[in-house]
Amino acid sequence: MAYTIKSGQAAKQPSDCLIIGLYQNGDMTPSTESINKLCGGQIKKWFESGDINGALGKTQIFHGLKQVTAPRILVVGLGDEKKLTLVKYKKAFSLSMSALKNSGAKSAHHCLTEITINGVDEEEVFRQAGIMAQASQYQYQLFKSKKKKPEAKPLALSFQSNGQSASKSATAALNQGQAIGNGVNVARDLGNHPSNLCTPGYLADEAKKLAKKYTAITTQIIEEKQMAKLGMGAFLSVSKGSDLPGKLIVMKYQGPGTGKGAQQDKPIVLVGKGVTFDSGGISLKPGAAMDEMKYDMCGAASVFGTINAVAEMKLPIHMIAVVAAAENMPSGGASKPGDIVTTMSGQTVEILNTDAEGRLVLCDTLTYVERFKPRAVVDIATLTGACVVALGSHASAVYSNNETLQQSLLDAGTSSADRGWAMPLWDDYQELLNSPFADMANIGGKAAGTITAACFLSRFTKKYNWAHIDIAGTAWRSGKAKGATGRPVPMLTQYIMSRCES
Ligand code: BES
Ligand code: MN
Ligand code: ZN
Repeated sequence: MAYTIKSGQAAKQPSDCLIIGLYQNGDMTPSTESINKLCGGQIKKWFESGDINGALGKTQIFHGLKQVTAPRILVVGLGDEKKLTLVKYKKAFSLSMSALKNSGAKSAHHCLTEITINGVDEEEVFRQAGIMAQASQYQYQLFKSKKKKPEAKPLALSFQSNGQSASKSATAALNQGQAIGNGVNVARDLGNHPSNLCTPGYLADEAKKLAKKYTAITTQIIEEKQMAKLGMGAFLSVSKGSDLPGKLIVMKYQGPGTGKGAQQDKPIVLVGKGVTFDSGGISLKPGAAMDEMKYDMCGAASVFGTINAVAEMKLPIHMIAVVAAAENMPSGGASKPGDIVTTMSGQTVEILNTDAEGRLVLCDTLTYVERFKPRAVVDIATLTGACVVALGSHASAVYSNNETLQQSLLDAGTSSADRGWAMPLWDDYQELLNSPFADMANIGGKAAGTITAACFLSRFTKKYNWAHIDIAGTAWRSGKAKGATGRPVPMLTQYIMSRCES
């Protein structure tokens, strides 16, 4: 569905609901101000009487303002104007969409896009609006036998521009946002899908479907037999514990204008951890919240979401999405603590804990992708519980062996309100991985668990520019609002977009 941008008087825009912003000190955004004037100071009166307070994300619906064409007006709190950031804007925007969904409105004119945020350009605001508008329409109710009333049609939305007319770049950014939002929803769908259905084979089939949908994408599946030939002993040590065969999934996207041998054409490779269920293996996890380990393929899901968004936008870039898909299960055929395996790189690993399986499937995949002579490789993984302890659910951990690459990812995260935080990869941490019997152990002990996991991967990525994003805290939410978030699709897509320019 196409969203539109409109300029001119917001009060006269025809829709079921007009959405306007208000700061916590009562200051108004341009449309709010003009409506307040038109209505004889009505909004100011509501503020003074405490009906609305402007706290960040607080929403209130009013009916029947005669001077406003829309029958409803939804006032959204924006908090402290001086402290407004893109992340806070995203929160306010998202809560406005929830309030809208819970109202009877089928269409809306959204005025939050007219506001200016310090240090944020208009394009970023419109792109974010596109992402949120699309992502807010997401629901996963495949397995509810009594479906909630399916929303017959997606909400029709228009957005306010504060200029004389919608700028070309704002329109483009809104459309990009929509594609990114679709990518976010793809990632959420895959993440939420239960592991009895979302198996390595299912992910391989999804990759094949993608190649049918987009001519710019070709898909190749590497089966276990081939992996054995390649010497991927670490990957196979995980998948052999499951009845389901592991799959190495390769999706190549060749954007318009690429493929002519220019330096630019060297691919950006994204590698996703696709552990479709992580029981821990013989080092079995405790029972509490074990269901959430169906989300252990959210790195893979984000890679799928990103390639979808990139293909939808037809970005002029060469990118390769690779998914390491396997299930981590205990069985008579499973690896045991103390087992030693040889990786594709030739380095040997002592598996001290079979629950540190993500790095085992990833290390061989990271060696495999050397063949693409990549411009950069970024892996995305729900790799460690320790990352959740360190950063919680607000930032993904970003590691890299190249500062420029690391900074590009952090910048992409800032500009898409999908933030990352730089973490160290100092040599000092490496010795925690020492093993008396093999070249390294697969765990580093209690201290700095998210860092030692990244250090493990760094031993397999010396031949190219590489970054690792630990999304264990950001990929899904627990508790009442349990569900995949689709992160870090916005960060990754923004990063790819920035690579199209340089
Ligand atoms: N998939 C988990 C990491 C995880 C755990 C993510 C909980 C989000 C929430 C990973 O495979 C794992 O089990 N890691 C272990 C590593 C340990 C054995 C060194 C962990 O974090 O406990
Ligand atoms: Mn594990
Ligand atoms: Zn895992």
